[in-house]
This record gives sequence, structure tokens and C-alpha cells, in this order.
Amino acid sequence: RRLLGTAGAVGAGGLVVGGLGGASVAEAVREDPDPLSGVGSATVPFHGDHQAGIADPAQAHGHLLAFDLAPGADRKAAAALLRRWSATAAELAEGRTPKGDDTGIALDAGPSSLTVTFGFGRSFFDRTGLTDRRPAALEPLPAFTQDALDPKRGDGDLWVQIGADDALVAFHALRLLRKQAGDAVRPRWEMSGFNRTPGATPRPMTQRNLMGQVDGTNNPKPTDPDFEEKIFVPRDRKGPDAWMAGGSYAVVRRIRMLLDTWDNLPLERQERVIGRRKSDGAPLSGGGETTPVDLEKIGPDGALAIAGDAHVRVAAPSANRGATMLRRAFSYHDGFRDDGAPDAGLLFVAWQADPMKGFVPVQRKLDRGDGLSRFLRHEASGLFAVPGGCAEGEYVGQRLLE
Ligand code: HEM
Repeated sequence: RRLLGTAGAVGAGGLVVGGLGGASVAEAVREDPDPLSGVGSATVPFHGDHQAGIADPAQAHGHLLAFDLAPGADRKAAAALLRRWSATAAELAEGRTPKGDDTGIALDAGPSSLTVTFGFGRSFFDRTGLTDRRPAALEPLPAFTQDALDPKRGDGDLWVQIGADDALVAFHALRLLRKQAGDAVRPRWEMSGFNRTPGATPRPMTQRNLMGQVDGTNNPKPTDPDFEEKIFVPRDRKGPDAWMAGGSYAVVRRIRMLLDTWDNLPLERQERVIGRRKSDGAPLSGGGETTPVDLEKIGPDGALAIAGDAHVRVAAPSANRGATMLRRAFSYHDGFRDDGAPDAGLLFVAWQADPMKGFVPVQRKLDRGDGLSRFLRHEASGLFAVPGGCAEGEYVGQRLLE
């Protein structure tokens, strides 16, 4: 028996329309109600060549967490933990409740596209005696001049990314993984974020960020011929980090937006800063959202249609020797700062086969001052090696830890 609730009824398109039209709550109780939408029942498989939560769309709710291994927790303890976490993540992704879970947090909701993604930070390899297997790609990121990083909210031995289209489902996964880790780890930092809810727009659309921009348009797509090569470590990887085959590197940056300043800019200035229209994300060089950006185009005023310091010009692969990353971000809002400004921005997560060929060269350029940097503060940073996915019965990181 499920209560449909008083919020609305399901329209022809599967979206909730209107109220109950005078029907009492009792009348709204049905034995087998049609689901309100497909959001709850949608699944993203945990098992596969790559981990979930990379190439699939970012969900409406996200948690990023880092843990440090507790003193005395060794490689074996880490292996046991990853085995347990992988089994749990797989069950949750299918909408099953793992044995012994009595929290009840997600009882009424389906899997809601839950994904759980696991990664290792540089320090993990020192703690576990595995420095000889540490990938060269985990060299610390260079310091950027505009960084104002809080080390307590950066890096960490183990990284977990949780995403789901339901807030309780996402928190449930977080709670369960934390409980299962017990004394083997100590929480280092946690950040929560959000995106638009599926079904809130009339058709699938690119996300918007808290500056109001359409964000993600020129991301590489899984259908691109070089997508695998740019985003994932080759499957035939040889050498000490062969265990990273099919994996990817995640650069995590907590980027606060100076929203009060930004919101006071006239629309035209805001659009110049990015090089795209705010309303629909179309490039200022013309066309619609998905029209390729024409960086050479001269406008009617004789100036470049996309300004010299526009974010899309400075960040474009063509301006950075092909440097490519997959941006899969969550917005965040953590209340207000002492000066009354919103503590809000982007939990920027960039995925690539090699951070030195993705994030680093682009951020070096942006750091020198594109139009957007003036309105941003990079406040936390992490770099994580995210191994390839695992098959049923295996666990993430097994090739490194067994
Ligand atoms: C494009 C916003 C930080 C790399 C864009 C676009 C927007 C945007 C609105 C245009 C639409 C699109 O193609 O997605 C932001 C905001 C940021 C931010 C609000 C910070 C809060 C970064 C950082 C990097 C980056 C840190 C990398 C180091 C890129 C790239 C593109 C892009 C590569 C695509 C450029 C192209 O090929 O046209 N960003 N961005 N962005 N951004 Fe950012």
C-alpha cells in the first residue's frame, strides 16, 4: 500500500500536474499505483568496464567524500573495505537493501539512478605500502596563482562520489558506506551538491549552474570517436599502474562564485565573459546551443564576436593543444559567509585519462585570467585515481589491492 500523497496526480506525459482536485487522501490510496514518474525506478548499473558516475549524466543530488585510512589500517584492511563497499554499491544501484541495513532512509524510493564511484588519492599509496604502483598521473597538481585552497577540505586517501536523483537515496548510500567503513577510516571532508531534477524541464536539457549559464554544452560525448581515449586510461595499460586500465582521473575543485558581484553585471557583460548567450547557451558567434563556436568570427562592430578573454575561448581544446576533460559538476550552497555573501558555487569534477593532458593545461591558462576567473575562488582541490569498473563478484581496485 502506498500513499500517492496530496501533491498532484500523474498527467499523460508522466509529469505531475495539478492537485488532487478535491479527492480525499483516502481516495488517493491505491493498491498498485502507477509510479509518479520513472525517476525512482531508473538504474545505472554498478558493474562494467568503467565505474558508474563518470560518463552518465550528473544526478540531481551529489555527495563528494574523502576518507583517510585510520592508523594501522593497511592494504588488507583497504581491500576488505573496497570489497564491502563495492558489494553494497552494487546492491543499492539495483534498488536492493543490503542485509543488516535498518536505517530505513530510502525504503520508499527506488534506486533513482544511484551511482557510487571510488577513487584513491596520492597519500593512499604511502599508507598502504604501494608507492611502487602509484601512477605518475597522481603527481600533485601544480599550485595556481589564484588558488586559495583549504588543505583540510582537499585530497585524502580514499574518495567516494555518490549521485542520485533523490536526496534520501543519496544520503542513504552515504550513511551506509560510512557505517560499513567503521574504524578503518576517518572522514576527512564531505561536500554536498545538486543539479536540476529530471523531469523539471519539458525536454532533456543541459544543466545550468548558479550563475545561470547553460553549462556542459561542449563537453566531450560518449559517441565522440576519441571519447574513450581522452577520458579513460587505455585497457591495455602496461607497467606499475596497469591496474588503472579502464580507469580515469578525477580532479575535484570546490569553486566559490562571487554571486553578488556577478548578479549585478548587465546581461551583455555576463554573456561576454563566457562567450555564449545566457538564455539558451548559443555561442555569441551565432547559431543555437550546439552550433560549433566560431572563434574567428568578427561581429558587426568590427570586434571578435567571442571576446579575447571569453571563458570558452580560453578553455577550448583548440586553444590548449587538444586538452580535453569531461566536466560533471554539482552546484553547492552552504549558507552564508560572515560578510553575508552566499557560500555557493560549483563542485567542479573533471574526468580525463591524464590530468596533465586535461585539467592542468586548461586551468593554467584560466588562472592567468580569463573573463570568468574574476568572479571565482578555487577553495579546495583534490586529485584521485579512479580505477576501472569491476565485474560481478569483484570489487573496485581489486587489481591493485589483491
Ligand atoms: C565551458 C562555466 C570552470 C573548462 C564552459 C561554459 C560555461 C562554463 C557556462 C560554456 C558551456 C559549455 O561548453 O559547457 C564555468 C563555470 C566555472 C567553470 C561557472 C567555475 C565555477 C571551469 C574550469 C575549467 C573549465 C575550472 C577547467 C580547468 C571548460 C571547458 C569548456 C568550458 C574546457 C568548454 C570550452 C569549449 O570547448 O567550448 N564553462 N566553467 N571550466 N569550461 Fe568552464
